[in-house]
Amino acid sequence: MRTQVGIIGAGPAGLLLSHLLHLRGISSVVLERRSRDHVERRVRAGVLEQGTVDTLVAAGVGERMLREGLPHHGIELRYGGAGHRIPFEKLVPGRAITVYGQQEVVKDLIAARLEAGGDLRFEVEDVALHALEDRPYLTFGGERLDCDVIAGCDGFHGVSRPAVPEGVLTTYEREYPFAWLGILAQVAPSSEELIYARGERGFALHSMRSPTLSRFYLQVPPDAVAEDWPDGRVWDELKARLETVPGFTLATGEIVEKSVTPMRSYVVEPMQYGRLYLAGDAAHIVPPTGAKGLNLAVADVRVLTEALAAYFRDGSTGLLDGYSAACLKRVWRAQHFSWWMTTLLHTFDSDDAYGRRLQLSYLDYVTSSEAAATTLAENYVGYEW
Ligand code: FAD
Ligand code: DHB
Repeated sequence: MRTQVGIIGAGPAGLLLSHLLHLRGISSVVLERRSRDHVERRVRAGVLEQGTVDTLVAAGVGERMLREGLPHHGIELRYGGAGHRIPFEKLVPGRAITVYGQQEVVKDLIAARLEAGGDLRFEVEDVALHALEDRPYLTFGGERLDCDVIAGCDGFHGVSRPAVPEGVLTTYEREYPFAWLGILAQVAPSSEELIYARGERGFALHSMRSPTLSRFYLQVPPDAVAEDWPDGRVWDELKARLETVPGFTLATGEIVEKSVTPMRSYVVEPMQYGRLYLAGDAAHIVPPTGAKGLNLAVADVRVLTEALAAYFRDGSTGLLDGYSAACLKRVWRAQHFSWWMTTLLHTFDSDDAYGRRLQLSYLDYVTSSEAAATTLAENYVGYEW
């Protein structure tokens, strides 16, 4: 079997790449370890930058997102007994975010690929990469797929990055002494906009998916498991961390999903080796506080599509050779922003009274200085280099 681009992973990166290549007349096969049902149900990100929205619309897969997604023009930072709005419409005019679940993006992309007759293989076992320097091919479940190029879109725990020979990649990473408990609940959001709340009990985030579905995150110890958090404890803690301003009451409802996510910053450089190109979480991870992971995956795929289109058009390798460098500028900006938002809003056991004062001073600065608030806003909606 042969294809132009062998894609490992049917997350947002792999699916979008396959779709964008199809629009350029380039063939691909997507190999995914999990079932279609599993990837369509996996609850994760929810914040799409304007650039991500524009990409999906231009690719003809944005129709449901435009209908059902929720455009937001600001977020609230809540701490010290008060809420402070960061108004995007004033600070970064014309730019906003759209709240639309990652699994909805995944569903829309799978539907578009299948409608176009795309080759998506789910529940594929033992994917392995070979001959990356010259004539690359993939093996899986007793089959062989010869490719011109391989795209490693298989997330942080995939097989692509480890297939690069030792000594080629440089790793940059930082771990955080806490995790996030993500909660999806059948209840109308108690706020129109996202609330990022900092308090002595730890960080909490109030987000949403629809007028009847709310999404929350709680800072929890790094070794926490969902079983530590029965529903009653979740609501008590969310109330304790969010009902900190006069007049705000958190509405409760049935919890339909609960999971713990570790917090990590991670980058490998370069994001390519031979004829293998890494995109999305396979190459970099950010802590979710800045809502950047999915958006970075989409940005990588945009760059890779242009490079592959040039290569398959006339054999030119300039853009492919520069793929990693073209992505890393944006990746590092998002790394810094995500680290910064994380350190600004979480409580660290190691923090002394001095550290807490610094955190509060910076929060006061961000919520009173237009220059500082603009820094947050322009990074949050997506800084375009
Ligand atoms: P993934 O979505 O991880 O997809 C990789 C795919 O590869 C998976 O389907 C996996 O099953 C498959 N795979 C893995 N190994 C193999 C193998 N050996 N063979 C075949 N297939 C394989 N980002 C944002 O932008 N905004 C947010 O608001 C946000 N919030 C988040 C909240 C949480 C709780 C979490 C966990 C993440 C959040 N993120 C957010 C990050 C975002 O979800 C990821 O960055 C995004 O999923 C990356 O997409 P991807 O396609 O690169 O990787
Ligand atoms: C969501 C996730 C995030 O990481 C974030 O910063 C904001 C919102 C969400 O899932 O809705």
